[in-house]
Amino acid sequence: MPKKPTQPKKAEEKEKPVVTGQEVPVKKGKGPPELLRGFRDVLPEEQGRWAMARDKVRALAEAYSFDRIELPILERADLFQRTLGKQTDVIEKEMYAFEDPSGDLVAMRPEATASVARAYVNHGMLNLPQPVKLWYEGPMFRHDRPQAGRFRQFNQFGFESLGVPDPIVDAQLILIASRIFQELGVDVTIQINSIGTPESRQSYLAELTSYFRPHRNKLSEDDKRRLQKNPLRLLDSKDPALAELLGGAPQIVDWLDEDSKQHFMKVLEYLDEVGVTYQLNPHLVRGLDYYTRTVFEIWEAGDEGERSQNALGGGGRYDGLVELIGGRPTPACGFAIGMERIVKAMADRNVNPEPRQKPLIFFAQLGDAARRVGLRLFEEFRAAGIPVAEAFGKNALKTQLDVANKLDVSYALLLGQKEVLDGTIIVRDMESGAQEIVDSAKIVSIMQRKLSAPEGVSRPSQDVVQ
Ligand code: HAM
Repeated sequence: MPKKPTQPKKAEEKEKPVVTGQEVPVKKGKGPPELLRGFRDVLPEEQGRWAMARDKVRALAEAYSFDRIELPILERADLFQRTLGKQTDVIEKEMYAFEDPSGDLVAMRPEATASVARAYVNHGMLNLPQPVKLWYEGPMFRHDRPQAGRFRQFNQFGFESLGVPDPIVDAQLILIASRIFQELGVDVTIQINSIGTPESRQSYLAELTSYFRPHRNKLSEDDKRRLQKNPLRLLDSKDPALAELLGGAPQIVDWLDEDSKQHFMKVLEYLDEVGVTYQLNPHLVRGLDYYTRTVFEIWEAGDEGERSQNALGGGGRYDGLVELIGGRPTPACGFAIGMERIVKAMADRNVNPEPRQKPLIFFAQLGDAARRVGLRLFEEFRAAGIPVAEAFGKNALKTQLDVANKLDVSYALLLGQKEVLDGTIIVRDMESGAQEIVDSAKIVSIMQRKLSAPEGVSRPSQDVVQ
């Protein structure tokens, strides 16, 4: 007799995925679901380098007295629209912005500097001793064209210092960025430029526009638009056909106001003082509009001929940003580094993490009672800080010992029905094959002694009970 369905039909219908009130069509077809383009899993085998990079960043953040801040992934879309610049690639084409179920226009953050500035204003950090030094780490989202080193979800860590205009802040941030790479074994060059203040930039922009205008027909459609709306971004054009034209373009450093010039000179002097080498790069303008004065990028050594699309990190001063989102005028400077890019650079240079502490003991069990005792013993070893491997899911002793051999442990502990009844456990030396039966209540201290005995010294025998 056919069974009645256990679930009422209505409940089944309810389980369909629903996003912002609309039904999502379920794709039919064979095979497992695919990852979205530009998204990736960071697999266990990659975690070592990720952890190494994260540990280094965390240690340096502490050493330079930056406090950690965690910011939401979802923000109001206008936070980014107001701050990053309407004509930037990020705002024009790359933002994951949508209406949420409450009807708010929200965006998955494409970067975190705007959120830091928002948090600074929201939490009245202006009243704290300045500078307020914050660091963060987490995923960012840009619907960019995926390619090597460029993803739609990527991870950044960033350092931001708010409240102090002095060029020493810029220099120390650049120093920290270069230390991170130095300590991770990745050679980099610091590319640096100054783009002055929005006011002093106006005459330069006029000059730049009149330089490019006679060559308008050589420009791509994208660059033609930039010429009209945001000519500074032409300097950062990715079009190889523009390289020669760019070479002859007027340089922004020649148009800086006196204060910006002095500020820039000071940054460079401080960098010289601490031995951070840099390359002056008159074409460096960065892809976001909030920058003032110092801008810099960190490029992998050897990439100097390339344009900045492969930068490992970038940043600069953003003295107008806090005011732009409704706070009091607050000078600030910071940088962010892409985790995927840093980890790739480490892999390319064969920078490897320390291997994890490998278990020296394997626990093998035979029968249900032994398995139960094993579960408890495992906890005792863990509490004593001794890593033990096990294969609780396997039954045959031979299969378990094969695992022990593969793991190359020094000892196997064997526990069967008889040993459970006797309160004993068999310790097998995997190299010599010698076995002894010991009191299972003392097994942790016995193994502690065995593991700490210098190699080649005969094992103590007073533990043997039979
Ligand atoms: P950004 O230059 O847009 O600056 O990004 C910084 C770094 O994030 C890049 O140098 C790169 O390593 C990484 N990155 C950016 N986009 C991608 C992507 N699609 N795939 C992989 N990695 C990527 C900012 O985001 C500013 N908030 C930096 C800053 C902080 N300025 C001042 N403070």
